Amino acid sequence: MSTEIRAITPDEAADYLRVLPFANGLPSWEPSPAAWYGGPEPWPAPPPPASAAQLASYAEEVMADGVHPVAAFVDGRLVGASAMIEFEVTVPGEIGVPMGGVTSTAVIATHRRRGLLRSMMRHMVDGARERGESLAMLSASEGSIYGRFGFSPATTRVRWEIDRGQAGFAPAPAPAGELELVDAAAARSAWPAVHDAVRRRSVGELSARPGQWDGLSDNSLGSDGPMRYVLHRGDDGEVDGVANYRLPWGRTAGDAGTVVVDALQATTPDAYRALWQLLLDVDLTRRVVAAGGPQDEPLRWMLSNPRALRITRQSDNLWLRLLDLPVALAQRRYEVQDVLTLRVVDDPMCPDNEGTWRLDATTSEASCTRVDSEPDLAIDIHALATLYLGGGSAQLLAFAGRIEPNRDDAVGRLSRLFRIDPEPFNSFGF
Ligand SMILES: CC(C)(COP(=O)(O)OP(=O)(O)OC[C@H]1O[C@@H](n2cnc3c(N)ncnc32)[C@H](O)[C@@H]1OP(=O)(O)O)[C@@H](O)C(=O)NCCC(=O)NCCS
Repeated sequence: MSTEIRAITPDEAADYLRVLPFANGLPSWEPSPAAWYGGPEPWPAPPPPASAAQLASYAEEVMADGVHPVAAFVDGRLVGASAMIEFEVTVPGEIGVPMGGVTSTAVIATHRRRGLLRSMMRHMVDGARERGESLAMLSASEGSIYGRFGFSPATTRVRWEIDRGQAGFAPAPAPAGELELVDAAAARSAWPAVHDAVRRRSVGELSARPGQWDGLSDNSLGSDGPMRYVLHRGDDGEVDGVANYRLPWGRTAGDAGTVVVDALQATTPDAYRALWQLLLDVDLTRRVVAAGGPQDEPLRWMLSNPRALRITRQSDNLWLRLLDLPVALAQRRYEVQDVLTLRVVDDPMCPDNEGTWRLDATTSEASCTRVDSEPDLAIDIHALATLYLGGGSAQLLAFAGRIEPNRDDAVGRLSRLFRIDPEPFNSFGF
């Protein structure tokens, strides 16, 4: 038996796609209760296997610039697939850092548990390091797989609900600007600029992936009905906010009358307030559900009853892996000025990350150099990944045994250096 792991060629793209759950009608996420979704269903039903025309259009996306598809071949047959997409992720200090996003991962049922995913991951990690990406990220369809490759949760997402009857806003001046209901074509043209402006100053947000908004359409999505779109324009006439939402026709009486907000981004507080004021007051509806929002949604603090916004599910979102520890730690900015030495042990996939590192940080620059001295603390590579974007709690990780301080003040100082406000968050996955 011969095994080969390599990048695919364009004429192998259809075989590559057929391995992936979304193209062959198989589930691609854990079932309820761990899974969650904006609408009344636990998760959207898998689509039927892709048609030849769909495969051809997906193939174009797979072979696009900045996408690096890799496959496992056993005796010449393509049996495993994954890909890395080049992104920029915003890290503390509002700095865009190159990141390899792992996606579309699957091995066919007959060839599982033989090390093919591990070999594809090795190939992708090496490729990302060669391209100069200091970070890798992914969203984990199962929480038990990716820790062994050095990934750890770094952002969080929640699903929340508000009953329309409790959705009153606290008194505040009326937001400037105007709202406009638009079709999918207008939404497709508005999203890139709004998202780009938001993501550049929001820690955890990603640059758009190739073709990110191509799928927005006015066609009906089964019982969910069509997606609807609303734009906000500031007083200067420029679009400064967009929302995508649906009004699904519920299968039970209890599900009827729900507005499901799929995405909303705004570059100004006025645009944000105006969009939510509209969505929370759609006539003939009872409830608004948003999935994939941040833990600390500013909307809560615009309502006269903050408890009206009820978080009904919460989950890790993007997992992060440090590919090049000293480069990554020097690329972000820190909340205070301090010098801390950290010992990192046990990173077999990227052994260059192991050792003792001196982090010399101010709020405007940072350096990270290898040293040979007694560290202030020891931290495992997962805990450092969880703290990297500014979320997570150093105190809790220490309590859990992931950080071992050598000085009484070491964990507090680590926390003050890394933690940011608000929490890192990514509006879109990949
Ligand atoms: C998940 C999947 C890609 C793993 O591929 P694979 O080739 O079987 O994985 P490997 O044999 O390389 O396993 C590597 C390690 O991960 C572990 N692992 C693999 N799948 C796992 C799972 N579902 N749950 C827990 N551990 C798993 C293996 O035990 C192995 O551990 P070890 O090397 O530390 O002993 C494959 O099982 C699959 O396609 N599953 C269905 C679709 C799916 O879940 N895809 C989404 C992944 S995001």
